[in-house]
Amino acid sequence: MMLAPASLAQPARGLAALARPRGILFGAAINTGRLADAAYARQMATEPQLLVPEWEGKWAALQPEEGRFDFAPLGAVLEFAARNAQQVRGHALIWHQAMPDWLAPALAAGPARARALLAAHLDAVLSRTAPAIRDWDVVNEAVANAGGPFTENTPAVGDLRDTPWLRALGPGYVDLAFQLARERDRTLRLTYNDYGVEGDTPFAEEKRQRVLRLLRRMVAARVPVDALGIQAHLIMDEPFRPEPFAAFLREVRGLGLAILLTELDLREAAVVPPDLAARDALVAARVEAVVGTALAEGCRTVLTWGLSDRDSWLATDKDVARKDGGIHRGLPLDAEGRRKPMWQALARVFETGATAPPR
Ligand code: G3I
Repeated sequence: MMLAPASLAQPARGLAALARPRGILFGAAINTGRLADAAYARQMATEPQLLVPEWEGKWAALQPEEGRFDFAPLGAVLEFAARNAQQVRGHALIWHQAMPDWLAPALAAGPARARALLAAHLDAVLSRTAPAIRDWDVVNEAVANAGGPFTENTPAVGDLRDTPWLRALGPGYVDLAFQLARERDRTLRLTYNDYGVEGDTPFAEEKRQRVLRLLRRMVAARVPVDALGIQAHLIMDEPFRPEPFAAFLREVRGLGLAILLTELDLREAAVVPPDLAARDALVAARVEAVVGTALAEGCRTVLTWGLSDRDSWLATDKDVARKDGGIHRGLPLDAEGRRKPMWQALARVFETGATAPPR
């Protein structure tokens, strides 16, 4: 029996309500700097069941000076979620970006100081957020890219990016972060989060192999990692074929790890069709193919990196913004908050797409 596709009208129910009956959790990144906009707040209350702070959970926001913690921005995310009966996931306990100015020099003082700083940050942040946040991106983007036309080539030490964390603590900093987080909270879901593993290119394949080598080693060493977060910042100009991505997801599930799509959005091609309908159809088809592949391989959590094209980092970050003065149409809602074919594609794949047990 064909299930009726999601209504083309704007149903009151959001994407999370359409996903929930099949055990799929839909979420979105929220930026508290935009909550004064009533339309933005309404979208964030309507569509997602799960929220992730776009910047409020990072070192620069949480510990702007050594020992001075500012939980107000993250607290605003938690308060909004509580008011709307939503969950919150954490992002990110270790990342080489969004570091406050004092941190890299402090890490360079040596491994003992670096370990003490990491432990103090985890002590403060995990104890403060434990009741509300049950899943954290413990380490974000530790694996070096293999370069290529779609990702920057990153200096590497083995498979890992050369970052202040690696230079301070050595390659074992990833394991240490997960171990220190587990010591502080035995029931927290600990996620490793990264990007560039979706495409059908030799560079994406190399990134997939590097991420798999990291995860296999961590699992074999009984490092407490529970999940892989796949950012899914899709790039239309990068070819996609389900099978290489599906094979990777099967390997990850074979390690006993959960799979999340954590930052889904789409960077349109450098040259786009003249009419919006054609552009939106291309975006919807790619999103449906990628998310459909992930759900069919056991992914159960899908978050978009924002909801409206207007509010996306893709519209403002100079490295990815369109050069033709337009904005990428890579999120479910257009700049006016109207649901686009990408929204309908997500609704369709949530309601009728093939799924597999989470693991
Ligand atoms: O620091 C100010 C803060 O004081 C102010 O109150 C607030 C008001 O909104 O803005 C803050 O500024 C900016 C912040 O975004 C919030 O908009 C920061 O200067 C800016 O660097 C920050 O950029 C974020 C970036 O990560 C770095 O943290 C982007 O919004 C966010 O979309 C981007 O997200 C990353 C993921 O974390 C990891 N994966 C890639 C993704 C895209 O780059």
